[in-house]
Parts: sequence; structure tokens; C-alpha cells
Amino acid sequence: MRHFVAATFVAASAVLGANSSSAHDASVQNPFIRDVVPGAFIVELGSTSGKRALHDEFLGELDRRAAGKFTTRKKYISPIFNGIAVQLKTPEDIVDLASIPNVVSVRPVFKYPAPEPVHLHVAPGPVDTAVVPYGQSVHTMTGVDKVHTQGFTGKGVKIGIIDSGVDYMHSSLGGGFGPGFKVAGGYDFVGDEYYPGQIPPQPDDDPLDTCAGHGTHVAGIVGANPGNEYNITGVAYDANLYAYRVFGCTDATSDDILIEAMLRAYDDGMDIITMSIGRSSAWSDEPVSVVASRIAALGTVVTISAGNEGRSGPFFTSAPASGKDVIAVGSVENTVRMYQTLTASVDHAPIPYLAIDPISGLDGAPFEAPETPLPIYSLSMDPLSRATACSELGDDVPDLSGYIVVFRSAEYSPGSTCFLEDQIVNLGSKGARTFMIYDADGYPFVWEFEPHIVFLRDRDDGVFLVNEFNKGRTITVSFAQHGSAVEIPNSETGGLMSSYSSFGPTQDLLLKPALSAPGGNITSTWLTNAGSWAVASGTSMSNPYMAGSAALLIQARGKAIAKNTRSVFQTTAVGLPVSRNSKALPQTLSHQGAGMINVFNALNVKTEVSPGELLLNDTAHWKSQHRIVIKNAGKRKQTYLLSHQPSGTALTMPTSHLTTTYPVPLVNAPVTVRLSQTRLTLAPGASATVTVNITPPKNVDPKTLPLVSGWLRIAGSLGDRLQVSYLGVAGSMYDAETISTENAGQFGPSFNLPSAILPQGFDDFEDFPQIGPVNFTRGRAASSFSFILAQNSARVVVDLIDANTKVHATVPILNQKRSIWSGWWLPGMPIDKTGGDFDDIPIVTRIADGTNALHIFSGISPIYGVYFPYYVNDTDIPYGQYRYLLRALRPFGNAQLEKDYDVYVTDTIGIVEDA
Ligand SMILES: *[C@@H]1O[C@H](CO)[C@@H](O)[C@H](O)[C@H]1NC(C)=O
Ligand SMILES: *[C@@H]1O[C@H](CO)[C@@H](O)[C@H](O)[C@H]1NC(C)=O
Ligand SMILES: *[C@@H]1O[C@H](CO)[C@@H](O)[C@H](O)[C@H]1NC(C)=O
Ligand SMILES: *[C@@H]1O[C@H](CO)[C@@H](O)[C@H](O)[C@H]1NC(C)=O
Ligand SMILES: *[C@@H]1O[C@H](CO)[C@@H](O)[C@H](O)[C@H]1NC(C)=O
Ligand SMILES: *[C@@H]1O[C@H](CO)[C@@H](O)[C@H](O)[C@H]1NC(C)=O
Repeated sequence: MRHFVAATFVAASAVLGANSSSAHDASVQNPFIRDVVPGAFIVELGSTSGKRALHDEFLGELDRRAAGKFTTRKKYISPIFNGIAVQLKTPEDIVDLASIPNVVSVRPVFKYPAPEPVHLHVAPGPVDTAVVPYGQSVHTMTGVDKVHTQGFTGKGVKIGIIDSGVDYMHSSLGGGFGPGFKVAGGYDFVGDEYYPGQIPPQPDDDPLDTCAGHGTHVAGIVGANPGNEYNITGVAYDANLYAYRVFGCTDATSDDILIEAMLRAYDDGMDIITMSIGRSSAWSDEPVSVVASRIAALGTVVTISAGNEGRSGPFFTSAPASGKDVIAVGSVENTVRMYQTLTASVDHAPIPYLAIDPISGLDGAPFEAPETPLPIYSLSMDPLSRATACSELGDDVPDLSGYIVVFRSAEYSPGSTCFLEDQIVNLGSKGARTFMIYDADGYPFVWEFEPHIVFLRDRDDGVFLVNEFNKGRTITVSFAQHGSAVEIPNSETGGLMSSYSSFGPTQDLLLKPALSAPGGNITSTWLTNAGSWAVASGTSMSNPYMAGSAALLIQARGKAIAKNTRSVFQTTAVGLPVSRNSKALPQTLSHQGAGMINVFNALNVKTEVSPGELLLNDTAHWKSQHRIVIKNAGKRKQTYLLSHQPSGTALTMPTSHLTTTYPVPLVNAPVTVRLSQTRLTLAPGASATVTVNITPPKNVDPKTLPLVSGWLRIAGSLGDRLQVSYLGVAGSMYDAETISTENAGQFGPSFNLPSAILPQGFDDFEDFPQIGPVNFTRGRAASSFSFILAQNSARVVVDLIDANTKVHATVPILNQKRSIWSGWWLPGMPIDKTGGDFDDIPIVTRIADGTNALHIFSGISPIYGVYFPYYVNDTDIPYGQYRYLLRALRPFGNAQLEKDYDVYVTDTIGIVEDA
């Protein structure tokens, strides 16, 4: 990497609401300021001479250039990563680090937020009214129950957990620390107070989880001892755990610490390193990802959570899970769900429900009701009516304050005039405060008063209660406060991918996640001073499940198997469908990876298949020819049948202007597979190579960048079931839009992007596009600039250029009226075909230069924006005629070449003495 990177973008929500005084504030130009440690950089050094000497040479040169205005954060002296993390004292110190000899790359130090489970319920103590002992549902899903019975429990395997530390005082985690204990070692890299960029780390030898709980939950999933209050069993409960603490109590760490922790875990001889940590990034070249991958390539298993950004759609992996040889792990929903039950005063089975607590929400606890049974009331003769109390209630309705009112929820649908909130408010006018609701498809927000709500799981129970009431009887319901929780099969989403689980692949089309494991509603250990147990959901939970499973494999097959862990689990995984509908397509592999792990299969099949995955790339780089090797490792002859099973093809850019978010549309458009053999017989110990030819589908528009994926199935006559997964894009990512020309209306602004945007208050309008050239007087805000990326881009640069500079714009200026529906395209800027190098175009000033930009910010808004660049050094930009120039690097493009960018220039913005 040759350029110095200062990533500077603002979400346009900020731009669009900006006023003129904040436009002068330089800090608002840098939205990544919350993601990077200002002035801190990780520098990788080449290893042409002695490693320590390289550090000294670099520091000497930096000292000459920066005149001592820097500190050294970390030195990495390792065959895996030779480098240094430095802190420049003032961000204005533009020392060109990349031009120092032997520098291979320079990257900002990123902050990592503490991983947050999607759902977390901390038990109040060893007896929790909301949680029944879960038993073994997750182990039944994966066959770990049977593997435990076979005697594999992870004995002799070392697992390093990089997280918030581990509360090793927990009795199920061994009750102590050091040799001889379950948590046998580790290190604390941060101390309680560390906050990147503000409070320096205070490392010590004790990795106790003092405040977060996350690492303790992860440790319990890997290795909690059986025989506890909640009847849970860690996947590899005889393994040795090592706790590497990288989060203190401040909810953030940084990637220079993560690299240090990974290198130390490797040096400590871990067989497996697991990290339920990540920062959204679709690139495999992030320094943390590179280090994780190099460790994995040396034969240490590295498992990392895929991320909880499913809502942001495809190409939204996270770092370091994005590392090439890392096992990125997605999350599968538990096959059971917990419900509370109520009893009615008429003969009927206990009725499952979930209560909304006004404070803790839907946390699974019993409905807090007085000891005496509550009488029910129904306003409707028709239990299936969705219009109960949809209008104001008349005088015939009695005072409802003593009742729990049972009714069917109104339907949320377009054009609907009655909502659940209206029903509750109308009933509330008669004094009702307590409600029993069935068929609700949303969580009501009521401001008028605080309703107490019980959601019935099954419509039939609601219908039954309404009918009984309408017979004229007094019916009461009772809510036991203990022992009323039940485990009910989760027939809707159990065993399917969790919707929050992040989608891959990476920008270079690596299969991410690689695999999935149970991660929804997982009971595990928690801080001993805060309840000791918790139920949590997220890829933070599925990832340690994978790590524990790898330990079972290593114990069963020996340490030499470690480097094949990913392919062993991929070839024996179970593909999941999109839904429980019998006609549902198999889920795209960009969501599930090879499928849900089946640990029993992985340890017990008698056949070895490699590789575990075939990467097809996109059509501009399509790899059609592959080989797979099948080996009969058993003692008996086996005959194999080979077949192709495609999964749903994901349209990642359905309109060809914008990468989709969740849900990702799937269509039936499979690749064509030709196999050199579809049937073969292998003697014990024999192996065979099958050649595979894969061609992209024809019945789908390549401009939608269809993500094709699926499996080649290998079925053995002795019952072995294996597969090889494949993934690719049936279109050219380079040829697709990078700068989006999609109507921006769905995201807020009432006009098209990209566009220069007049400052707020200009001409009395809120915000609207700048149409044609406009002059501004100095000292007042000038137009800002907003745009949307159609897909991720490895480098996005916004410059201010002289209005007469010739540029080859690939995206023409949109001539728009003040409504999104009346725009049309004008021819682009004058074309100058001579510009070859990116840096050949003369600029007035660089406004923003970002690496690895994503197409959306965490499912929220895809709009990027920058302000007009007033200088911050007490001088003002000279009078003149300017334009914004936006350049976004196309996928697989060369950052040095102008031709590899998608380019847009705005209308002219003049800065004049008098407008
Ligand atoms: C404009 O921004 C300044 C600085 O952020 C703020 O103090 C002021 O209240 C803002 N004015 C308006 C009208 O929003
Ligand atoms: C605990 O789990 C075991 C399986 O390991 C199961 O047989 C047993 O019934 C469970 N006990 C309770 C109380 O759920
Ligand atoms: C796809 O091709 C591009 C361009 O050659 C390359 O950079 C990338 O690594 C390839 N991806 C895979 C998975 O082979
Ligand atoms: C299970 O997870 C769901 C959300 O995924 C949550 O609503 C529910 O309360 C959880 N159950 C328990 C017992 O934590
Ligand atoms: C802006 O000012 C410049 C210089 O005074 C002038 O040439 C140009 O015509 C003006 N543009 C508009 C749109 O008024
Ligand atoms: C202020 O900053 C601009 C842009 O970096 C630069 O061109 C100009 O020379 C600076 N002015 C002074 C007085 O330093």
C-alpha cells in the first residue's frame, strides 16, 4: 500500500441536517473518528534484514521526520507479523509513514466495540423463573451429545479465548486459575479502564472477567462442567482454557491489542484460538484478519464469529472473521424456545405465553400478577375478529380496570386503519390496563399509560378463552411465579439460520461464514457476582460452539487434523433451508456457509473429501475447473454416488443500482455442474479424483450480481454423507455500478443522489439538490455533497477540483427537479482520456479519503456525505469556481489507475465576494 490513509466520511443524515456554523468544524468531516484511534497506525515491516534492526531503522527514520512527536504503542516481533504500532502526537503531523523504507503497509488502528449479544437475559441467581434447565437441545442439533457418549470431551486440547476475560471463580469453570485448573493460563492485556485513544492499557497476569460477562459466557459454551443448576454441558468440558483479556470495563478495545493477543495465544501453543469479536468489514486484508489467517495457515485452528449484521445484507462480513484461513461462524436458532404458562379456571392445558415487562421487555420471566386469579373480559363475540375495540367504546362497556382483557390483535398491513395500539388505547379509556393478546405480529408502543401485556403463543388458546367467556361464565387466569416455564419446540425458526447472522462473502469472494453452529437462546455461565448464568443469542455464542467442536475433533483424530478442521466440518455439515415451508429453497451459502456443523458426522464418517469449498469467483475471473479428492479411510469397500444440490441464488443487487439489505431475495437459478464421474467404488485406503466443471446460470440477469452457491453431494453405500460447497457471483462486480444511481427517496432525501446539496435554509427550503451552477459568498455555508455506494468499495476519495479541470466522469450529472420522480440524465463532463494515474488529476484540496467503505452503515443508512471544505487553519478557500469530484474504486480494481474508478463530478460551486 503506497498511500497514507485518512478515512473521512460523514453520514449524510448529518450533512443534510447541518447548519452553516458546524460546516466549519473540521471534526464533523470524519465520521470514522468513532472507529479509529486518532493518530494511531499499525505498520507492517518487510523482513529483508534482521527483524529488530528493521524496527530500529523505522523508528530512527520516523524520529527524523516527526521530530520526536510520536510514541510506540506496540512492537510485534514474530514470524507471523513483523511490525509496529505508533501513535503520532498530533493528527496534523502528516508524516508519510508509507514512504519509509521497508514499510509494507500502513493502516489506522481501529476501535472494536465490545460484542453485544442480540438478546441477553441474565438470571437473577441459580433459580431463575424464566429459564428451565435447557438440557441438551443444542447438543442434539449437532450430535455433540453422541460424541460425549463416545468419550470425547476435549481432553488434552488447549483453547485460547480472546475476549473480556473469564470468571474462573465460577464453580462450573473450575473455581480457580492456573496450572491444574480448567482455566489454566492466559493474560490481561488491558486492565479494567483501557479505552483506546484515551486511557492506556494496564496489563497484568490475571485475566479475570470482572465486569463484562461476555467472555465468561463464551467460556461456558466451550467448556462448562456438566452437573450444574441449568443442566448445561460445555462442548469440550475437559479441554484446557486460556483466557486472553482484551476488553476491560469500557466496552471497547483496539486492533493493535487484538494482534498482540493473537500472537501471544499462538506463542503459548494453543491448539485452537477463538474470538467472538468483530468490526464490520468486507475485506480479508484488514491487519487483524491477515494475522488471524496466517496463524490458521500454520495449523492452529482459528474460529471467529461471523457478526450480527444480517440486517445489512450480503457482503457484510466482519474483521477478523474475514481472514482467508479463519473459520468464520454463523448462528443457527435453537430448536427449543422457552415460554411461561398460565392456567385458566376451566379445564384446559397450561397456556404458553410471553409477558412484556415495561422495563425489561420480553425477557421470558413470568407475568407479575397478584396472587389472586384475574378475571378475564372479552368484548367480541367472534374470537377471530381483528377489529375488537378498533373504535371508541360506548357506554355499554363496563369499567374494565379489574379485568385482564383478551382479544385478537389487529393486523399490521398497508392501508390498515386500526393498529394494536388503538385497541389498547380504546380499551384503556375504560380503565383496562392488563391485556392478553393473541396473533400479535408486533410489539405495541403506547404512550398514554403503561399497559401490562401477555402474548399468548397459540391463537387456539385465545379463541378458547373468548368462547368460554361468551358462554356467560366467570373465567379467571392465574400466573404462577415459579416452575411455570416450559421448553417448547421452536417449529418456526428452530434449526434455521438466525436472521441476525451476518452474510458474506468477502469482497474477494471467500466463503464467509465457513460454517454455522447453534447461537440462538444459549444458556451458559455468567459473572458469579451477577447471577452466574445467562441466556444469550448471537454469533458470539455459535463461535465458541465451533471452537469446542474443533477440540473434540482434535482429541479424536490427533493434532495433525487441526489444519484440516475447516474442511472436515464443511464436508460433513448439514445444509439448511430458508424456511420450514416444504418448498423452500436451501439457504444461500453466503448466510450459512457449508451449513450447520454435525460433530458426530465429522468424527465418524469413514470417508475423507477435500477440499471443503470451491471458490468460483465472479464471471470476470470465473474458475470453472476444480478437482475433488475422495478417499475411503474405512476398512470396508464403499461405493459413492455424486450429485449436485444448488441452493437459492441470491440477487445481491436486485435493481442493479444498490446492494440489497435483509431479506436477501433468492431465486431458483442454479449453476450447471459437469462431473467426470457420478459413481465410483473405492477399496479401503484407496482414493480417486473427480473433476468438476461449473458454468454460471443463463436464466438470471448478471447485472443483479447473482450469488450462486450449493453443494456437490457424495453419498457412500455404507451411509457416509459428505459434500463440497461452492460459491461465486454470476456477474462481473467490476462492471456493476459502484457509485449508485438509485433514487435516494427510500432513505430520506426527496431527490436523487449523487448530488451537491444546497445548505439548509438556502432559499427557505430544508434541503434540496443544487441544480446548475450556484455562487456562494465566503463565510456562509456552500453546498455539501452526498452519494450512495451501490456496492462496497476499497477506496473512496472526494476531492475539490477547479471547475474547469477535465475529468472522465463515468456517472453523468443528473439533471433533477426538486422531486425524485422527474429526474433525467444529461451527458457527462468533458472527457479527457489521457489521465492514466489516479494522482494525475489536479485537485484543490482532498476532502475525504477512505479505505474499505461499506455500502451501508449497520443496516441504517447508505448515504455518505461531506461538507464544503473550509480550511481550518484560519485561512479561507480562495475565491473561485469549484466542483466536487467523487471517485470510488471498482471491485478488483487497481487503486493507482484512474480507469478503475467509478467517477462523478458535481455542478459548479462558486465562492465569490458578492453573490
Ligand atoms: C448550529 O450549530 C451550532 C454548532 O454545532 C449549534 O450550537 C447551533 O445551535 C446550531 N444552530 C441551529 C439553528 O441548529
Ligand atoms: C439434563 O440433561 C440430560 C442429558 O444430558 C438429560 O438426560 C436430563 O433429563 C436433563 N435433566 C433435566 C433436569 O432436565
Ligand atoms: C477472484 O479474483 C480476483 C481477481 O483476480 C482475486 O483478487 C481474488 O482473490 C479472487 N478470489 C478468489 C476467492 O479466488
Ligand atoms: C430467546 O431469544 C429471543 C430472541 O431471539 C428472545 O425474545 C427470548 O426472550 C429468548 N428466550 C430466552 C429464554 O432468553
Ligand atoms: C458566479 O460567479 C462567477 C464569477 O463572478 C460568474 O462568472 C458566474 O457567472 C456566476 N455564476 C452564477 C450561476 O451566477
Ligand atoms: C491552510 O490550509 C490549506 C489547505 O491545507 C493550505 O493550502 C494553505 O496554505 C494553509 N494556509 C496557511 C496559512 O497555512
